[in-house]
Amino acid sequence: MLRSFLIYLSKAAWARQAVTRWSFAWRAASRFVAGEKLEDAIRVVQALNNKGINATLDLLGEHTNNTDKALQALQEVIGVFEAIDQAGVRSNVSIKLTQIGLAVDEDLCRQNLERILENAEKHNTFVRIDMEDSPWVDKTLELYHYIHDQCGCENVGVVIQAYLFRSEKDVARLVKDCGRVRLCKGAYDEPADIAFPKKVDVDRNFDKLIGMLIDGALAAGSPEVSIDGKIPPIPAIATHDEKRVEYAKKLISQAGLPKSAIEFQMLNGIRRDLQEKLAEEGYPVRVYVPFGTEWYSYYVRRLAERPANLWFFLSNLFRS
Ligand code: FDA
Repeated sequence: MLRSFLIYLSKAAWARQAVTRWSFAWRAASRFVAGEKLEDAIRVVQALNNKGINATLDLLGEHTNNTDKALQALQEVIGVFEAIDQAGVRSNVSIKLTQIGLAVDEDLCRQNLERILENAEKHNTFVRIDMEDSPWVDKTLELYHYIHDQCGCENVGVVIQAYLFRSEKDVARLVKDCGRVRLCKGAYDEPADIAFPKKVDVDRNFDKLIGMLIDGALAAGSPEVSIDGKIPPIPAIATHDEKRVEYAKKLISQAGLPKSAIEFQMLNGIRRDLQEKLAEEGYPVRVYVPFGTEWYSYYVRRLAERPANLWFFLSNLFRS
């Protein structure tokens, strides 16, 4: 109930207007968001790199509702590749398709995605397409398969959400074509006819999908994370859940997959201890570093994931 309400709030314009006016809301969000400017985010990536951790930079923004904004997002994403090269940091880029126009016009979004990937190729880097809520899943996977399987673009990967019933089929298709997959549990509120309502079932499915991705990596010759940290291996296990992490580690060692042929991914500001422990153990770790002024929806999804974050927010609200 609380989670559903918060996911509703994450999309509500009135709530966005009210919350983003309070300066303490930004202070609370800045636990997860690197800053409003690209330079802030680059500094966070440098600090992660110093600990042996790679990053993926995400310019915040979603559900762009006009062509001009979609084109502006395109230019800003291209600017991120340049900033990564200039700073010499170990980071690739994550994007959301509704940010670059999927909700406006599919052709516009495809053209913008093609421009982004051309630029990524010039900078020898990789782009991960985040997965949004269920109305966008089919279109996102269609565009990914078009660009990866038909156009032969290799510097792109996608995200699979373990809470969706369909994900097993989607992973089977993705690994057949050596797709690089970030596996997460899923951050939105989905109906029970398409997604597992119970956490225990989501976790079980997550473990099953880890197994499929590891088999896929072995079948593809166990490609490893690139030396510059930009191109990820086939399985990217995105969770802060230690049981899932331990399960993945056990499976890799049983299957004989080298540590560098898998990576663990976590969100900026969450389980830094676990991020550092895995990096010290020799596993590639990548942290998702979001930045920009459009932090509201992202932050409220983080509140939805963990009630303790909400109580922290509310107690500060009443104190301020
Ligand atoms: P779970 O929710 O079971 O949490 C396990 C533990 O992690 C908790 O007990 C707590 O300790 C810690 N934790 C989790 N969330 C926390 C929070 N917000 N604050 C503090 N501690 C927290 N989703 C999606 O739908 N599309 C996407 O593209 C992505 N992309 C993505 C990238 C990366 C790198 C990560 C790590 C996650 C995503 N997600 C995502 C989000 C994902 O679907 C999921 O909502 C969160 O990762 C939380 O789930 P966990 O797997 O951490 O497990």
